[in-house]
Amino acid sequence: MIHSSPRSSDTHPQSAAVELTELAAADHAESGEGSRQVQDRDVQDGCPEANQCAARRALITGVTGQDGSFLAELLLGKGYEVFGMVRRSSIDFRERIAHLEGRDGFHLVYGDLSDSMSLVAAIGEVRPTELYNLAAQSHVQVSFDVPEYSAEVDALGVLRVLEAVRLTGQTKTCRVYQASTSELYGKVEAVPQTEDTPFHPYSPYAVAKQYGHWIVEEYRCAYGMFAVSGILFNHESERRGETFVTRKITLAAARIAHGAQDRLLLGNLDSQRDWGYAKDYVECMWLMLQQDDPADFVIATGVQHSVREFAALAFRHAGIEVRWIGEGVEEKGVDVTTGRVVVEVSPSFYRPTDVVDLCGDPGKAQSVLGWNPHKTSFDELVALMVSHDMDKVASERASERREPNLEEYLEKGVVV
Ligand code: NAP
Ligand code: GDD
Repeated sequence: MIHSSPRSSDTHPQSAAVELTELAAADHAESGEGSRQVQDRDVQDGCPEANQCAARRALITGVTGQDGSFLAELLLGKGYEVFGMVRRSSIDFRERIAHLEGRDGFHLVYGDLSDSMSLVAAIGEVRPTELYNLAAQSHVQVSFDVPEYSAEVDALGVLRVLEAVRLTGQTKTCRVYQASTSELYGKVEAVPQTEDTPFHPYSPYAVAKQYGHWIVEEYRCAYGMFAVSGILFNHESERRGETFVTRKITLAAARIAHGAQDRLLLGNLDSQRDWGYAKDYVECMWLMLQQDDPADFVIATGVQHSVREFAALAFRHAGIEVRWIGEGVEEKGVDVTTGRVVVEVSPSFYRPTDVVDLCGDPGKAQSVLGWNPHKTSFDELVALMVSHDMDKVASERASERREPNLEEYLEKGVVV
């Protein structure tokens, strides 16, 4: 028996190895069985059909992120034993996976992509049949501010994960998915981009991810590992980090509609992206690891929109029709009904180098994986994000209104 994940408040800042070793020892004491290892005998090297005969056990790095949380839900629904890697944080609340903590089959292990030993310990203890490496410093603009750390995690972190698999003797039993990115195409050399389009990374983030991409291919060739990269184009959701442009827009549109924010400041409105829904994209990650042969795939919708279009649609879903006036840094989005400026351009959100023309060709994923890139349309994606954020802002506003009342009650000595 392997223990369910401790709830946030029960966890200790220990290494994965310590935590899992202690849990295994507790099992041993409880059951009175002989020596008991956390590792599953079925997933040892040498079992030729390990992925068929073993209980399916997935390790997800980056489980607290947008994709990690959706992927954990997907795999639990398929009956996997899911181990999520987390790092110690000063706030013991992991919002995106709080609903999974304590659920049967869901476990947490400590680890950090900048710490080889923690990876060897965690991967060696868990012995996953599938490892999804989603952890990264994932913000492109931030990678200009923390370039060395971004390389440490997004480039060398991938090497550390692969080496941990190799050093613990799991090259034949553990399939590895690496989160590659459309940012690799960067200063694009063709539109739309396919698996064969040359890479031209155009930010510290993308350069680091390019190393991650190539080291995965190297381990596949050198050690015969089933290690693959999904070249994912932008995918968003109601769980998207609040400083990525889509979520920044949907939250601002909701706040402005509720009178809780004056205006939204954006950078490059002309930038074009191929935006899909994260929940659809994690299915593709899983499909990639179920194939007979390892291969890389572009995951995209094949449809491109500008930041300006995304903003206009988001405001429309929030009940505000926007008209654009001016150009460049002088461009503004005006509420047609009130004449009020709701969007302005701020050069502080311009990037030293910006990727502006991403559009992926999902043809290979459609034909080989049978994946449907149009399950959630662009309009549905924007609508669901705005709807979520309208509810979120409404409940924040309601609690703001309650708080003064509560203070008043307390001040008057009326405590109910
Ligand atoms: P995200 O929401 O930013 O999540 C990143 C995850 O990585 C978080 O769980 C974070 O943990 C974890 N992490 C960061 N540094 C770490 C470290 N040193 N050690 C261990 N964990 C670390 O990103 P996402 O949108 O889900 O994206 C998932 C992956 O796909 C990333 O690798 C990203 O670069 C790549 N990708 C994303 C997109 C997209 O459009 N979303 C497109 C292409 C590729 P904390 O919660 O502790 O910070
Ligand atoms: N973040 C942000 N904030 N971006 C803005 C803003 C703003 O105020 N205004 C305009 N943009 C433009 C950026 O310049 C960029 O061209 C585009 O909007 C998208 O920016 P982000 O949403 O930050 O995403 P990203 O494309 O840079 O990176 C995301 O997608 C990649 C895949 O292409 C991240 O999820 C990466 O991890 C991922 O690899």
